[in-house]
Amino acid sequence: AKPRVPVDPARLEADASRAMSAAAYAYVAGGAGSEETVRANRRAFERRRLVPRVLRDVSVRDTSVELFGRRLPSPLVVSPVGVLELAHPDADLAVARAAASLGIPMVFSSQASVPMEACAGAMHTSPRWFQLYWSRDDELVESFARRAEACGCDAIVVTLDTTLLGWRPRDLELGHLPFLRGQGIAQYTSDPVFMRKLAEPLPGAAPARVRPTAAAVRTLLAMARAVPGGALRNLRTGTARAAVRRFVATYSRPSLTWADLPFLRARTRLPIVLKGILHPDDARRALDAGVDGVWVSNHGGRQVDGSIAAVDALPAIVEAVGGRAPVLMDGGVRGGADVVRALALGARAVGVGRPYVYGLALAGEAGVREVLANLVAEFELTMALAGCRSVSEIDRGCLVELH
Ligand code: FNR
Repeated sequence: AKPRVPVDPARLEADASRAMSAAAYAYVAGGAGSEETVRANRRAFERRRLVPRVLRDVSVRDTSVELFGRRLPSPLVVSPVGVLELAHPDADLAVARAAASLGIPMVFSSQASVPMEACAGAMHTSPRWFQLYWSRDDELVESFARRAEACGCDAIVVTLDTTLLGWRPRDLELGHLPFLRGQGIAQYTSDPVFMRKLAEPLPGAAPARVRPTAAAVRTLLAMARAVPGGALRNLRTGTARAAVRRFVATYSRPSLTWADLPFLRARTRLPIVLKGILHPDDARRALDAGVDGVWVSNHGGRQVDGSIAAVDALPAIVEAVGGRAPVLMDGGVRGGADVVRALALGARAVGVGRPYVYGLALAGEAGVREVLANLVAEFELTMALAGCRSVSEIDRGCLVELH
């Protein structure tokens, strides 16, 4: 019988595309511009080939790594992906349960469809981190950081490549912007600071054009009722509409600079990781600013079309960081060999994005678990067959670069 969740990444995507609405699939699969960078992320892996070593006794293997004070079962993390309700009604909750069943850290998105408290509650002691989009509203930034701490997060990942949303032709052509429909804003509607401010005037240039659809208001009201504790059970239509408007006006701060980082540093004891670093000079500045990790990423090619592939940016950043902090990467990781290649180039861990969303679309929690478990199993096998018994044995000597 045909498995519900194909092992092959291309078939996984093809099956998921049939299981999702056209708009949902476009949002997940799409990238910026001509999607050159989406393709480049893959090609950069394919240009690097492993050179397996033999006769090295790989009967006993250890895939674990240490990160932010924890021993993780493998160098894999679940990259933050917003608006997961587009793939499956269980959304973030299904991902949280699947990740927790494997001990793989899940990074809660600022743009999640389920409040972080509900996800954390489904994960027992399994590792979780929080991804922050830096809001125009300082008080909201502080509130998110406080909630992440209360949720037992091991780190705050600040995503820096999306202060403005990229130019994404697939979404533009379908006229699909989930946030205007009230999707992916549960982290906000479950926030006491955000909800308290709904009646206040909108900061900065208020987007007068934003008119939430009736569907947006319905979605929000349904989500508000689902918030644990029932705090938002009595959210009214007018309030829901105000929440969408306020979200659009405050979720991001395009004026963000290095000078803002001390604000967060002073307000959380959690390790801070900067996601979306592609230039070695920015990696150096990040360390000077006292951050605890650097996450090399081009947002899966969704922001700057024509930008450098994540894995091409990795070596220079690893060199600039010089072992002073862990370097993570994501973008185009589709199989175990990609994990080995990224580690050979100096990454401590890698993130995976779209593939688990496809697993979610096909089979909910079980689908996500299948995709993640396959990736970990293929990683272990590839590591061993390349002649490495543990992650520490994976180094530059494991691969060659083609021209
Ligand atoms: C993302 N990504 C993302 N990143 C982030 O920091 N916060 C977010 O809310 C989102 N949302 C999001 C939605 C969708 C649909 C996608 C595909 C991606 C980027 C994500 O964390 C990661 O960087 C990329 O997905 C990695 O590339 P691959 O594995 O998808 O190729």
